[in-house]
Amino acid sequence: MKKYGIGIIGTGSIAIKHAQAIEELKNAELVALFNPNIKSAETAKEKFAAPVLSDFEEFLNLPNLDIACICTPSGMHLEPGLAAAKAGKHLMVEKPIEITLPRADKLIQVCNENNVQLAVIFQNRFSDDYQKLKKAVDAGLFGRLIMGNAYVNWFRDAAYYSTSKWKGTLAADGGGALINQGIHTIDLLLDLMGDVKSVFAEVQTTLYPIEGEDLGLGIVNFENGALGNVTSATSLYPGYPERVEIFGTEGSAILEAGKITAWNIKGKKPSEFKKDAETGSGSSDPNAIGYQLHLMQWKLFLKDIEGNKTPTVDGKTARKSVELIRAMYQSSKTKKLINFPFLDKA
Ligand SMILES: NC(=O)c1ccc[n+]([C@@H]2O[C@H](COP(=O)([O-])OP(=O)(O)OC[C@H]3O[C@@H](n4cnc5c(N)ncnc54)[C@H](O)[C@@H]3O)[C@@H](O)[C@H]2O)c1
Repeated sequence: MKKYGIGIIGTGSIAIKHAQAIEELKNAELVALFNPNIKSAETAKEKFAAPVLSDFEEFLNLPNLDIACICTPSGMHLEPGLAAAKAGKHLMVEKPIEITLPRADKLIQVCNENNVQLAVIFQNRFSDDYQKLKKAVDAGLFGRLIMGNAYVNWFRDAAYYSTSKWKGTLAADGGGALINQGIHTIDLLLDLMGDVKSVFAEVQTTLYPIEGEDLGLGIVNFENGALGNVTSATSLYPGYPERVEIFGTEGSAILEAGKITAWNIKGKKPSEFKKDAETGSGSSDPNAIGYQLHLMQWKLFLKDIEGNKTPTVDGKTARKSVELIRAMYQSSKTKKLINFPFLDKA
């Protein structure tokens, strides 16, 4: 059995979750981390069991490095991603793939040209309850889909933004609540409902002195004729578990913080669900998420690399949530309905 060498680029909060997940993989090991800032690299050494390098060439030239895991701020995924792909490394990139479509497309193109696999972390796809919902929707259990909603009514305190150099900035976060927090639930909604035909949206910065939005709302027309609501916020105290709602001609279901909380099919006894206190929602605390779902996605990615198969969440799939969010920003700016495909001239 081949043991894959993984290197993490970036040494912040999500890098820790990846390191914890990689520790549990039988066929992979964390060989090194990289941070270009010598002081940050030095501080990070205490947090990780593998060496933390500040020389990128040294990092990329490690003989046992097979996969680079990109954990830099969202608008800084492209450059290290390109360098790693050109060096023949497979990529596991944190969400969002990048903050604009041209940047996402460049990464996808260069991975293709260099024959390396590109997967993007959307760990919520791998919970048991989400998988059950996805299977049921695809099997037509709820009938023809009429409406699908994604609500991320979350809260972050002022320190969340004031202590970060990049969160809420246009250059490095690409916006605010939609592209950073809401994107997970938007990805699930698109996976369930299919492609988007058009969107109308309004975004606002209501509570915090940030460049991006802390509140965004959109009305979505899906290609299949269904309608949808998208809400994402970091300004709604105290923050409630994120929710996906699916309504079809034959029934409906609700997924809250990764758990099915309602499941009703016409003519069948409604299912009852226990509320689980440990749902791991980041509704008010960004550190409340665990690493188990990251671990699931890692296991599948290694299998896909081994079998030379396209990963479940490849670049093309991960681009869809960025397209919707970028279109929402454009709609809010122009006060116009945006038709798809959206030409992101960023
Ligand atoms: N999947 C999830 O649930 C989840 C949760 C949190 C964050 N994220 C994503 O992970 C990414 C990082 O977020 P975070 O919360 O860990 O941020 P963070 O600020 O905690 O960490 C970012 C790290 O990148 C380093 N860095 C900055 N520029 C760099 C560069 N050019 N090269 C290498 N390292 C660089 C910083 O020093 C820091 O160590 C973001 O894209 C974010 O959207 C995903």
